Parts: sequence; C-alpha cells; structure tokens
Amino acid sequence: MRSVIDIVDLSVEEIDGLIDVASDIIENPKKYSEKCKGKKLATLFFEPSTRTRLSFEAAMIELGGNVIGFSSANSSSASKGESVADTAKVISCYADIIAMRHPLEGAPLVAALNASIPVINAGDGGHKHPTQTLADLLTIKREKGRLNNLTVGFCGDLKYGRTVHSLLGALSRYTGIKVVLISPEELMVPAYVKHDILEKNNMDYVETTDLESALPSLDVLYMTRVQQERFADVEEYERLKDSYILTAEKMEKAKSDTIVLHPLPRVNEISVAIDKDDRACYFKQVLNGKYMRMALILKLLEIREKDDSPFTIDREDFVYSTYKCHNKKCISMVEQELVNIAKPSETDQSVLRCVYCDKKVN
Ligand code: CP
Repeated sequence: MRSVIDIVDLSVEEIDGLIDVASDIIENPKKYSEKCKGKKLATLFFEPSTRTRLSFEAAMIELGGNVIGFSSANSSSASKGESVADTAKVISCYADIIAMRHPLEGAPLVAALNASIPVINAGDGGHKHPTQTLADLLTIKREKGRLNNLTVGFCGDLKYGRTVHSLLGALSRYTGIKVVLISPEELMVPAYVKHDILEKNNMDYVETTDLESALPSLDVLYMTRVQQERFADVEEYERLKDSYILTAEKMEKAKSDTIVLHPLPRVNEISVAIDKDDRACYFKQVLNGKYMRMALILKLLEIREKDDSPFTIDREDFVYSTYKCHNKKCISMVEQELVNIAKPSETDQSVLRCVYCDKKVN
C-alpha cells in the first residue's frame, strides 16, 4: 500500500502522470465525477488550514466521494491524550484514505505506519508539505510549459517554510534547475535540506539576502510567509516578519514572463497591487491544488485496490532504538512509545538522522 509522506515518495514519472490526470480533470470534469462513489476521505487536521483541508474535501466531493474529519486537535480525542498511532488505527475503521496535517514533524509518517489505509501528509510542522508541491508543479508546468531548465527563486522563511523543502525535493529531480535562496541569515534552509537535497543532487544553488538583485534572473519567484507559529521567540518573529515585501516597483526588475507563486496564506510579503499583474499566479496555484489532490486521491485508491499490504519503511541501514531525537518539534519527542529510528544521511553515512523529522541524532 502506498502513502505519500514526502514528495520523493512519488517518482518523476508518477508526478508527470498526476499532472496529466489533473490536466484531463480540468478539461473533462464530468468523466471523473463518480470515480470515488462510495469512498470516504478523512481529513485529520490538528492544525489550522483553509486551502489544504478544503481543497482535499472539494477534491473528494468532485470525485463523487464523501468526507469525514475534524479541523482542530481540540475537536478530536487528541485533546484527551490519544496518540497519532491510535487515531490512525481508529480512522482506518471508518474511511478509505486519510489526509493529515499536524504541528509535529513526522506525525503523518507515524499515522501511515499504523493505518491500514493510505495516508497523505497535508503538512507536518516546518518539515514537509508534498501536496502543496503538486499544486506548485502543475502551476509551473501550465504557466511556463516545462519543469526543466528554470531559475527558481525562493524568498522569505526558508527555515520553517515546509513548502520550500518539499518543492526543492521535487525540483532536484528535474534537469537544468538553478535555485536562488533568498532569506535573512536566521531563516536560511535547514542543514538537512542543504545536504540531502541540494548537495546530494549537485543542484546549482546560491544563497543571498538580496531579493532585488536576484529578481532579474528568475523564471519563477516563490514567495513565502514568515511562519509565526514556528517561532519560540516572539521578538525574533517581529524583527524578521517584514524582511521581504514584494511591491509593484520591485516587480519592474523581474522579467516580463517571470511568474510569482506563493503557497498562501500571505500576510505582508506580497502587496495586493501585484494581484492584478498577469505574472501573479498564486490564486491559479490554489485551484491547481484541488486538481492535483483529485489526481492523487485517485492514484492512491487505485493502488490500494491492487495491494493492501501494510505501509512500511524498514531498510537494512536503519538503526533502531539506539539514538534518541532531541528536536522538540518531532513527534518522537512527544509520543514516548514510538520506536526511535535513525537513518544514515544521504551525503555522509556517518551522520544519522531521525527518520521522523530528518534532524541529526548523533
Ligand atoms: N498552502 C497551505 O497549506 O494553505 P493552508 O494552510 O490554508 O492549508
């Protein structure tokens, strides 16, 4: 059985296939309107969401299926102390597929390891957000006509911005990609992303604090919000929150066919005046997210029809129960019953990382 926890759980061929199905859904929605008749999607959202939860729900409804779920930890038995593992086992009795968002890194992986139905990671803390990446890729493909040979600038909170980590993972498998990472020093991409995505795949990347000088070279500008909810220090958030504000004046420096993406919600980082600019594609990105989630639901349910064996992650080089993760935002720090599992880093086998959150453990 397949679950999607990380964008690299899908091969490039599978992502291209999802893009083809999503494009066909856009052209022929009626063809798909009963494909999931009798099936149920459970949306388990332990953290707020507008786009991801409602687009998953709209996706299932447009496929003819039904939706159950909750939109906050407080309205579920998590508030009474129920574990993610038990929640996943329980929901497997009611639904055919799960979309889960959780503030702790690795929680959807724990759910997938305990559920008997496919689990889709709908965002885990500051870690990964693979279905946002599917929305991003469809938007780039439709607007630029390709996913190769692009210069992509990521701007803002590259430390906690899980959508950035997932999109970098996806782009690492296409050719001719140049990456410009634009952030304050304090919000640069985490070490595991740098080592295991950028360096492992020999990606052409530069880091800068200067948006305006980077703008003229970009085919895609991916703006992000500074993630207030991930900061332990309120003063630091206040100091960094307005590091980058994209204005119409700054957009004059961009190429006439540069597209501007943003996973949304935005706060101040894109002036609303830019919404009228043809290069602003963030609301198209929202709609594309629904179509890609429709394609993904279809694919995972189809795979499950043929193979309902449990989802596993065992690998010979995993190290069990020896190293404890000390990342306070990792599910393994909070749910003490979990087996600690470490995996060798992709670039340095002597470095071990927590399998749930990817942080170094030795
Ligand atoms: N892009 C995104 O994940 O938005 P929501 O937090 O509203 O789901």
